Amino acid sequence: MRQPFVAGNWKMHGALERNRGLVADIAEGAAEIDGVQIAICPPFVYLDQLHALLGGSGVALGAQNGCAEPEGAFTGEVAMPMLQDFACRYVIVGHSERRQYYHEDDALVGRKAARAVSCGITPIICIGETLAQREAEATESVVTGQLQGLLDSAGHEVLGKAVIAYEPIWAIGTGRTATPEQAQAVHAGIRRWLGEHDIAADALPLLYGGSVKPDNAAELFAQADIDGGLIGGASLEAASFLDICRAAARVDR
Ligand code: PGA
Repeated sequence: MRQPFVAGNWKMHGALERNRGLVADIAEGAAEIDGVQIAICPPFVYLDQLHALLGGSGVALGAQNGCAEPEGAFTGEVAMPMLQDFACRYVIVGHSERRQYYHEDDALVGRKAARAVSCGITPIICIGETLAQREAEATESVVTGQLQGLLDSAGHEVLGKAVIAYEPIWAIGTGRTATPEQAQAVHAGIRRWLGEHDIAADALPLLYGGSVKPDNAAELFAQADIDGGLIGGASLEAASFLDICRAAARVDR
């Protein structure tokens, strides 16, 4: 049985004062929602604040990135063991914005995932195709190519302990969501590929990300292979984020 999972990716948003109200509202609402794993991934500098605010709430904390190296002379980086100090249960790795703007590739993302797992942190590994790749009908080959690159770098054991987020790049922050059928087709393909590569496919949570909103969440989460969502814009308001979490709770598996 895979538990529904909803993670908020704040990206580069947040401010000390604003976070206080937002997190208090999310924690209060989340207390009424059963059976869904909920996480918030703020920018690094707010991990300490959110660690304190979320304490005892049942809402988990995650980071948006982490270094593949354990420590050392890597100016500007944050090590996975440092995330442990703030009780981060999750870390997003390989988000398309990091792949696009910071040139991260599958080999590096795989090493980050391995480092996270070695620290007891679950990596949320993002994959997904561009609009041009979808229009060229290359979605499946792009996604399975990314999975193969990750497997080559991280190995079976690490991939088996990850959460995978399918985020079509053309749907991120654009208001243009994949239809539930489009998303389900890719998720089923990912699960099939994992099974074919001896990774515990039935147990692995597969999230969808890309313009998930309260009005489309229920339909997406109702798909057989979509176990929840990675939520960007809609995680910055308690009401919309909680509505999405409630939609995940209502899914009848
Ligand atoms: P979005 O972002 O919900 O704002 O489209 C999702 C993501 O990038 O994780």
